[in-house]
Amino acid sequence: MADAAPVLRAAGLRKSYRSGDATLEVLRGLDLAVAPGESVSIRGESGSGKSTLLNLLAGLDRPDAGELLWGNEPTAQLALGALTARRGRFLGMVFQAYYLIPEIDALANVLMGARMIGPPGKAERERAAALLKRVGLAERGHHTPAHLSGGERQRVAVARALMNRPKVILADEPTGNLDERTGDEVIHLLLEVCAEEQAALVLVTHNAAHAAKTRRQLFLHQGQWRA
Ligand SMILES: Nc1ncnc2c1ncn2[C@@H]1O[C@H](COP(=O)(O)OP(=O)(O)OP(=O)(O)O)[C@@H](O)[C@H]1O
Ligand SMILES: [Mg+2]
Repeated sequence: MADAAPVLRAAGLRKSYRSGDATLEVLRGLDLAVAPGESVSIRGESGSGKSTLLNLLAGLDRPDAGELLWGNEPTAQLALGALTARRGRFLGMVFQAYYLIPEIDALANVLMGARMIGPPGKAERERAAALLKRVGLAERGHHTPAHLSGGERQRVAVARALMNRPKVILADEPTGNLDERTGDEVIHLLLEVCAEEQAALVLVTHNAAHAAKTRRQLFLHQGQWRA
């Protein structure tokens, strides 16, 4: 399995931001290869470019230079519509701020993952319910986010991210808004369900204990990997 083709591959990623005359070089030629089902954590000081990198890996933003492949597919040639459609099937995201839709209940939020692809049918509704049960929220399906705790909201977000059986989950400080114990529980769950679903996990975190639970630990420093 060590030689399995990467499920996610970035080579020479560069990203700068311009403000007035100044240019901020955030990513200075980053390589990353993630094996199928692998878990990788990324740490680095605030402003080191972790979220910038995750947004590039997700195809939410384009690099200034470098290559990004989802599976064997180069993403640079994909037009925005094709990229968005492909993303919906290929990867799921979890953010610090949950980003649930406040007006709809937990089950409907999980189903939103499927709606990115097309109108959900019976199979999708069953999968959403099963995922909600898997993350421990079988009884909370009809609660709106306002009636869920932070940890419960993040569990809904995890279920939503997994809805379309993605190959990769990108999580950007998923425990940043949670107390220590709840954060530990969410990380434990995230690692466990990603393994069950055979999704690779790229976890951005400031928490050393959480990072230590992933198979591989990376540090971002001044736009490059620190050895
Ligand atoms: N859209 C943008 N325009 C200009 N500068 C940006 C933009 N997005 C990020 N930056 C800058 O790029 C640098 C990296 O930001 P990024 O959000 O990737 O850091 P981070 O490692 O995720 O930090 P944190 O740990 O605080 O979340 C920061 O200096 C930030 O101010
Ligand atoms: Mg960030």
